[in-house]
Amino acid sequence: MKLSSLSPKGILHRVRRKTAVQSIQPGDPGLPKHVAIIMDGNGRWARKRNLPRTAGHEAGLQIVREITQECVRLGIKYLTLYAFSTENWRRPKQEVSFLMNLFYQSLQEVTTDLHHEEVRIRFLGNIDQLPPKLTALIKEVEAQTAQNQRLTLNLAINYGGRHEIIQAVRGLVQKAQEQGLEPEKITEDQFTRFLFTAGQPDPDLMIRTSGEQRISNFMLWQTAYTELYFTSTFWPDFGPAEFRAALAAYKKRSRRFGGIKEGRRK
Ligand code: IPE
Ligand code: IPE
Ligand code: MG
Repeated sequence: MKLSSLSPKGILHRVRRKTAVQSIQPGDPGLPKHVAIIMDGNGRWARKRNLPRTAGHEAGLQIVREITQECVRLGIKYLTLYAFSTENWRRPKQEVSFLMNLFYQSLQEVTTDLHHEEVRIRFLGNIDQLPPKLTALIKEVEAQTAQNQRLTLNLAINYGGRHEIIQAVRGLVQKAQEQGLEPEKITEDQFTRFLFTAGQPDPDLMIRTSGEQRISNFMLWQTAYTELYFTSTFWPDFGPAEFRAALAAYKKRSRRFGGIKEGRRK
């Protein structure tokens, strides 16, 4: 323990922090409606333990379950997890195929449980370019859970923010050609209907683990006014307690959306 944390100020700080984290209760109106997470650091977590990088991905999967569970418990309505980017194909073939198998197996394993918990599972990304078996399973899982309303779990697989914007532009241009839409009639609202997240609120909070402080092509359109939270914890070490700490930090943020005091949190 650091000497400074023994000082009265240090103790006070720790007590305050504990209180804030404990005050995160299910249904708290100060909670974000939509949380997005860049789950990073699996490889470094494994290397630190002299394990292959793939062991980090396996360990990370357990955290996906825990955080999903915590969102259900707290009543958070949308959780988006970045699992594989359009750039992650640059990784060694072996790691990529390990990940594809892991997605397939875990999806098979967890879907029934999540369905019982009324979780709607959606996928963000270029799904058709995944191994055909995985693409088929994804479509099945989306259809099976489509009516669930407790939590929407978005899994971003083969997802890139720029790709998402370009495919939205294509959709919009096609509509414009078919229906004779005037360019000046195109609105932000109309545009968002072509995004993978159509109909969903933008993330209120984005968390990135592992110490990197960048967006890595994640939800470029949707994060215009998202609160960002960075932690040096590797994803397999991130758990519900640290998740609640991030939520407590979010609650203290003052969101202004370019205005002055509107939306201010106490
Ligand atoms: C995140 O962990 C998982 C994926 C991108 C699939 P990484 O695999 O990027 O782990 P680090 O960043 O190399 O430690
Ligand atoms: C971002 O992590 C993508 C996912 C977590 C799926 P990366 O590890 O791929 O990002 P960079 O390369 O460090 O920016
Ligand atoms: Mg990484």
